[in-house]
Amino acid sequence: MISTTNDSSFQVSTDRTRLDVPMIYRFLSEHSTWAVGISLTVVERSIDNSLCFGGYIDGRQVAFARVVTDYATTAALEDLFVIPEFRGHGYAKQLIRIVIEHPSLQGLRRFTVNTTDAHSLFERFGFKPSRPETCMERFQPKLYVS
Ligand SMILES: CC(C)(COP(=O)(O)OP(=O)(O)OC[C@H]1O[C@@H](n2cnc3c(N)ncnc32)[C@H](O)[C@@H]1OP(=O)(O)O)[C@@H](O)C(=O)NCCC(=O)NCCS
Repeated sequence: MISTTNDSSFQVSTDRTRLDVPMIYRFLSEHSTWAVGISLTVVERSIDNSLCFGGYIDGRQVAFARVVTDYATTAALEDLFVIPEFRGHGYAKQLIRIVIEHPSLQGLRRFTVNTTDAHSLFERFGFKPSRPETCMERFQPKLYVS
């Protein structure tokens, strides 16, 4: 499936075979703020078991988002990024819109995303700060850092 957005140069595809896995691995392991040190094996396994969205310009992947979901009740948006030289053109907004409107992600009771500084970006799409009084997690933020 390829969705062409209103900016016709930016296309989004959920075709996993099109993903530039080395680029995704390089970004996550070296430049992300949340997964530095992650191994290629773990990145590949996460991609294999998620609904993945690649954003492309002229066939080159410049953006990525990964959704972990049961396709029925719940989903989590993970690993969203646009590579630095393509930021500021609205591609993240287009990608998030396509993710939340994806036909397989409708009717969910809960859609979550974790962010340290992009709250205002996600609020535009209906995400709200969650409730610390009810949300608990087992979290190992330094897991990939040796
Ligand atoms: C966050 C990120 C995906 C935005 O990509 P982008 O294509 O440059 O974003 P867009 O051009 O679609 O615009 C984003 C909008 O959200 C706003 N915004 C809010 N918080 C932001 C943040 N932390 N980073 C970037 N933009 C942010 C921008 O100001 C912009 O507003 P505007 O429409 O009024 O101009 C990109 O900066 C990125 O990959 N950052 C590193 C990875 C990351 O932080 N991912 C998010 C994890 S939750």
